[in-house]
Amino acid sequence: MTREETAGRLIGVAKRFIPPPGRWIAARFLDVTTDSLERIMGRGGPLTPPLRIRLHVGPFLDPELYRLSAERNVEALRELCGLRRDSRILDIGCGCGRVASALARYISSTGSYDGFDVAKEAVEWCQRHISARFPNFRFRRIPVFSQRYSPQGSRGASEIAFPYDDNGFDLVFAASVFTHIPPDGLANYIAETRRVLRPGGVSLATFCLLTDSSLPSVEAGLSEPRLRQKYGDFWVRDLDDPASFIAYPERFVRDTYQNCGLTVVDPIRFGSWAAGSLEASEVLEPFGFSQDIVIAMKVQ
Ligand SMILES: C[S@@+](CC[C@H](N)C(=O)[O-])C[C@H]1O[C@@H](n2cnc3c(N)ncnc32)[C@H](O)[C@@H]1O
Repeated sequence: MTREETAGRLIGVAKRFIPPPGRWIAARFLDVTTDSLERIMGRGGPLTPPLRIRLHVGPFLDPELYRLSAERNVEALRELCGLRRDSRILDIGCGCGRVASALARYISSTGSYDGFDVAKEAVEWCQRHISARFPNFRFRRIPVFSQRYSPQGSRGASEIAFPYDDNGFDLVFAASVFTHIPPDGLANYIAETRRVLRPGGVSLATFCLLTDSSLPSVEAGLSEPRLRQKYGDFWVRDLDDPASFIAYPERFVRDTYQNCGLTVVDPIRFGSWAAGSLEASEVLEPFGFSQDIVIAMKVQ
């Protein structure tokens, strides 16, 4: 078990044993303690959320890793998607604003950033800490059900419309989000991506794609995350909650994009997740993703 997994488990266990009225106080105590320690060590900063909230989006025990991974993701948006300082960006499943915090240093006041997520606490943190400093950075929570991230959500991922106008964005991205969306929801999210992109606009999404080369590793239990069960044509971490982590066949993903009217821009850039790259080493990847990168364009 990695250090990040251990920290995440400890927080999970504490949550189970601390009765609800005490949880808020315990969470604040933990946040103040870890924030202070990080400040003393000269790490973190005003756009870096407390450790407890960071662990919600990934193995980011180290605030420096959190910051650096986001910087690399922004390089991907610049190099692969033509991100400019005045771009209008939508971040699907923005989490606690990891990529937003790096974009805030790049996007000018003529550009804009919108992010949405199902996780209430993460979105509220972004509103308080990022929007307060960068008014052209906006965050929303949408009430979609996710057993892992939003058990109180009332709607399915296949049922919602993104709360934005048609053709309003130059760039739409989803970093490590479509690995948490069930198949019917995925088709809807890609169709909605197309709707909100302007003609000529570009999307970037990461997946764990099942291919001739990744499948043997998955079947041998070598991939990171470990996908233990087959779920139709897909592989999942947990059959009781398929959306806790799901890998899709490359063909299925390509077909879904095509059916939704987005053109996949080859090549797909395959990451190292299938070979068992620890997510914590994401930052070592050229663009900061260990997952596979799919770029697509709304041609018209
Ligand atoms: C691994 S985290 C990645 C967060 C962020 N994109 C990043 O790269 O830092 C996955 C995120 O997807 C969000 N999520 C899960 N299901 C979602 C859904 N149906 N719609 C939007 N976001 C969702 C979770 O709340 C979580 O913040």
